[in-house]
Amino acid sequence: MTTALITGATAGIGAAFARRLAADGHDLVLVARDEKRLHEHATELHDRHRVEAEVLRADLSREEGIAAVEARLSDRKRPVDLLVNNAGFGNKGRFLEVSVADELTMLRVHCEAVLRLTMAAAGGMRERRRGGVVNVASVAAFVPRGTYGASKAWVVQFTQGAARDLAGSGVRLMALCPGFVRTEFHQRAGMGTENIPGWMWLDADRLVDAALKDLARGKSLSIPDPRYKALTGLSKLVPRGALGRVSSTTGRKYGPS
Ligand SMILES: NC(=O)c1ccc[n+]([C@@H]2O[C@H](COP(=O)([O-])OP(=O)(O)OC[C@H]3O[C@@H](n4cnc5c(N)ncnc54)[C@H](OP(=O)(O)O)[C@@H]3O)[C@@H](O)[C@H]2O)c1
Repeated sequence: MTTALITGATAGIGAAFARRLAADGHDLVLVARDEKRLHEHATELHDRHRVEAEVLRADLSREEGIAAVEARLSDRKRPVDLLVNNAGFGNKGRFLEVSVADELTMLRVHCEAVLRLTMAAAGGMRERRRGGVVNVASVAAFVPRGTYGASKAWVVQFTQGAARDLAGSGVRLMALCPGFVRTEFHQRAGMGTENIPGWMWLDADRLVDAALKDLARGKSLSIPDPRYKALTGLSKLVPRGALGRVSSTTGRKYGPS
């Protein structure tokens, strides 16, 4: 029996990872801030799939939250075989409309937590000569899109660099770059979604299915949809100015503050 730890496991993409991995027979450690929701999900997954589903309440924007998850990942007596660094959010507003405190919170959750949790997990995985880490980035990593895009670009570069350093060790690292996925993300960030064309939306369960296939194939970067593969390929050919205009407007309509 293997164990997967998923951050941001109560909603959206993280919940889809939890459902799929439980259905495949993996024990789970579910991480998020909302303890009631964590317990509800853990109970449901345990009852449906007969797997162990442990709850770890942690706020990954806080030192004690990151440290608690690091400690769980470093526990050699209860090894974690797959880490999914998925917790994340969008800030409401463009550059200078968001406080520096909120920008720094994003960097902490998207970058510092991902760095520290990957390191905490990968050490033990390398000793055991097996394991996987999926770091959820975004296709926003490839376009100019404020602190959000910059933080996701860091996730991609960091993950692919670490994957190269650990090549041959038995530990696989993969950056996952979804396009728009119907989750709680946009509503939580106060973003209107009406200017996002219907064809751009992805389904979280299908996304996870494609991501796990890419991980099994040993990819270090997963863009799990032909539409977004084509768009990211195209983005390399389009002048940066034009790319910036499109990416800074699509899906960035904010409601009243
Ligand atoms: N949806 C999209 O279109 C899209 C596209 C590309 C990439 N992504 C990325 O996919 C990942 C998941 O997003 P989603 O769309 O599934 O969002 P979501 O539905 O809003 O879910 C976010 C999850 O992260 C948890 N979370 C948020 N802040 C946290 C914190 N400080 N500490 C611990 N847990 C925290 C939330 O639980 P609690 O509130 O209980 O903590 C929730 O479980 C994010 O990294 C996001 O950037 C999303």
